[in-house]
Amino acid sequence: MSQTVYLNGEFLPLHQAQVSVLDRGFIFGDGAYEIIPVYSRHAFRLQQHLQRFAASLTALRLSNPYSNAQWAALVQTLIARQDEADQSIYLHVTRGVAPRDHAFPAGVSPTVFMMSNPLITPSAAQISQGVSCISASDIRWDRCDIKAIALLANVLLRQQAVDAGAVETILFRDDILTEGAASNIFAVRNGVILAPPKDQHMLPGITYDLVLELAAQHSVPVEIGYFASSVIRSADELWITSSTKEVLAIVTLDGQPIANGQPGPLFKRMLGWYQDYKQQVMRHG
Ligand code: PDD
Repeated sequence: MSQTVYLNGEFLPLHQAQVSVLDRGFIFGDGAYEIIPVYSRHAFRLQQHLQRFAASLTALRLSNPYSNAQWAALVQTLIARQDEADQSIYLHVTRGVAPRDHAFPAGVSPTVFMMSNPLITPSAAQISQGVSCISASDIRWDRCDIKAIALLANVLLRQQAVDAGAVETILFRDDILTEGAASNIFAVRNGVILAPPKDQHMLPGITYDLVLELAAQHSVPVEIGYFASSVIRSADELWITSSTKEVLAIVTLDGQPIANGQPGPLFKRMLGWYQDYKQQVMRHG
């Protein structure tokens, strides 16, 4: 069966979905996107994802083409039209098709695209043994809180990790932890979870919020703050989170072990809470 996608009001086979080369997404990277994991055909934290998407569109001064209820209905239809029960839904809105000029075009409708791909979650070995990361200077712009489709810096930074045989690049801006190239990062020190604040230098992750909610539910102390690379490198534990990575332990950074180089005890507890939460979502949506 050819993959069904959504483009500008229509569900259609992927090969029939076409946009103009003058689309501002293609020319300028002028748009926003969202990724929503789907477990057993239940969209994970859909309302939170739609709210973040709306915030990204507002920040880009793009009008949201649909209400949250309309988006939710479209997402449910897209989910129902796929073979796989576990999916990764991609939403994408650009400023539309117009002659090339940096300034906003007048009277142009946004381009709205949605697709679903099979959800690829971490392997059993990555979950049990942890993963390796490298670090790099955060070369991105000052509005990393917007989930913009212009991802050139993120692409280059993630590729550095791939080239080094690592899963992610951890970013430091003026030596302060921000996030990963496509993920958020947490540390643990003396039983306290350390997390960067949701400011303009990181994407407010939906998984980040869930991890902090689960920590609060289980009375694990959290310190939100700015952490220097020396604190991160000497942490007891490091974690990476995202919709597709879920929660993973980082066991080496730039080839050096984090603590004893094994996933830590708090990671194992958090992973259990996270998996329990997923089970609830799968049962009740
Ligand atoms: N990326 N920070 C960045 C820069 C990201 O791109 C992502 C997610 C996150 C984590 O956000 P969430 O927990 O809501 O997935 C943090 C997605 C998965 C992507 O672009 O593929």
